[in-house]
Amino acid sequence: MCGIVAAAARREVSEILLEGLRRLEYRGYDSAGMALIDNERNLQLHKQQGKVSELEKAQRLQPVLGCTGVAHTRWATHGEPSGVNAHPHISGQRVALVHNGIIENHEALRRELLDQGYEFASGTDTEVVVHLLHRELAAGKNMLQAMQSTARVLEGAYALAAIDTEHPDQVVAARQGSPLVVGVGIGENFLASDQLALRQVTDRFIFLEEGDIVLISPAELQVVDRHGEPVERPLTSISAAVEVVELGAYDHYMLKEIHEQPQALAATFAQASGPGQLDECFGAGAAEVFDRVQGVQIVACGTSYHAGMVARYWLEELAGIACEVEVASEFRYRRRVGHAGTLLVTISQSGETADTLAALRDARQGEFVASLVIANVDNSSLVRESELVFLTQAGMEIGVASTKAFTTQLVALLMLTLALGRRRGMTPQKQREITAALQALPDYVQQTLVLDTAIESLSDAFIPRHHALFLGRGIYYPIAMEGALKLKEISYIHAEAYPAGELKHGPLALVDNDMPVVAVAPGDELLEKLKSNLEEVRSRGAELFVFADRQAGFASEPRVQILPMPHCPEVIKPIVYTVALQLLSYHVALQKGTDVDKPRNLAKSVTVE
Ligand code: M6R
Repeated sequence: MCGIVAAAARREVSEILLEGLRRLEYRGYDSAGMALIDNERNLQLHKQQGKVSELEKAQRLQPVLGCTGVAHTRWATHGEPSGVNAHPHISGQRVALVHNGIIENHEALRRELLDQGYEFASGTDTEVVVHLLHRELAAGKNMLQAMQSTARVLEGAYALAAIDTEHPDQVVAARQGSPLVVGVGIGENFLASDQLALRQVTDRFIFLEEGDIVLISPAELQVVDRHGEPVERPLTSISAAVEVVELGAYDHYMLKEIHEQPQALAATFAQASGPGQLDECFGAGAAEVFDRVQGVQIVACGTSYHAGMVARYWLEELAGIACEVEVASEFRYRRRVGHAGTLLVTISQSGETADTLAALRDARQGEFVASLVIANVDNSSLVRESELVFLTQAGMEIGVASTKAFTTQLVALLMLTLALGRRRGMTPQKQREITAALQALPDYVQQTLVLDTAIESLSDAFIPRHHALFLGRGIYYPIAMEGALKLKEISYIHAEAYPAGELKHGPLALVDNDMPVVAVAPGDELLEKLKSNLEEVRSRGAELFVFADRQAGFASEPRVQILPMPHCPEVIKPIVYTVALQLLSYHVALQKGTDVDKPRNLAKSVTVE
């Protein structure tokens, strides 16, 4: 992960770099740093453990200033989070470099550089790159040539940006496997991991391609491809206003984003509000592709993977179309046997998740009918590289724990189910039922949000616990998985989800009066079976928390707490119940005093494999 920003301008850029880092903090937040070349051509450096706000404090106390600089916010891979391991890394007091990615052959390179007299200060993989670049520059190469020679020996993934006091108005950068965009200004140029970081200074961007190396200065911009050939990459203007996301009356972005769901769900579905617009929501050419689709392969990570698991039930049961779902990090390394006519569907909030992107890129020529991405961030790598695109309308999601992105993904997937289902004999009556349910969904979510205080009162029981079990059957199993992921991610309570029928095959051994058990029990056709499973748990002394349709026939009793949920159409219940589980996790985390929006060890966008 990590976020990088760089600037080559004729004005002082430290505040531009800091603002860029603030906007990139979703990519990592365990340490941050920046290096600038001052008027005397000296390197000025700040590196701090902790969030970007720590770097800002250091800058206020003792400003480092210059017109050329690089900056970084880190999510540690090699070397613990610390000031020493924070980027930029320095070589020979002349070169400073920032990196997003992983250098896989760093050990061999380190040995080679040690033999040549280089000394290492940090435990990072990145430090080899700055010494390599220094070696090439010291041999007399210019910035572009030095970066080309350096990149040639690197294995792994990287976006790199570097400055050199001998070339005080230039920044050189390289991209292989990690995103990097050039922000084109007037008499100044910039680089960043995400265009969002630079929207304060420009609306014109060049999205670099794999293997590209770029040199910027206030007056020039040169790009060479992986073969060293000069290339022109297209200039993209992004005119939409930058979303300014304020907390408003909320204490945390996660809570704000939970409460934004009625509007986000409505906006996502509204894309298909006109007659015949359903196919068009998936991009030009979707109708023709959907006519040929015989099966669906969904690939995603984390919460987005859970959305895919839910969709499998919809696609198979409602649309009668075969669907496989796999986490991207497994899919990409597996020898696969394809089925003719399969549509590859990737799901990703950020559109930058490294494994999901690699899975899309690894799809063999002819393996799939087409690729479709369901993403929340326009212009992201997955959006740019997929043939069909559905953009969820969640708006910017800041909290690391995904909430509104997940539920809007589910709306998109239910719309896909409709689009494919009506080609495969889904009755007009069924189509109308699903459409009506999607229209009513924001209202049912609103009714769930009103249960906040009741859900908060359940959270007390989780505070002293170290573990929790989540149970669901059928389509509610992935919803239970999502509930468990939310709880572990922000409260650090170990939580696992099981299909309720699996309990007696092992996990029941864990159940005692120290193990709270959350059941997602909406009252579908599997209700009676689920009730038996819950009895098995209760008789082992566990305290049960049952999220049930208020008409399902559950009643609270000692050690069984029922949270009566709105009675709503079956097809949208997975979405409605998710909202209640999000609130439960939020309140548990709040009481435990964890950093709800930026939980430890995580980042919002996972751009390393
Ligand atoms: O941006 P993506 O949807 O591709 O991200 C995938 C996962 O990293 C993400 O969903 C993660 O699991 C969330 N933090 C969970 O809340």
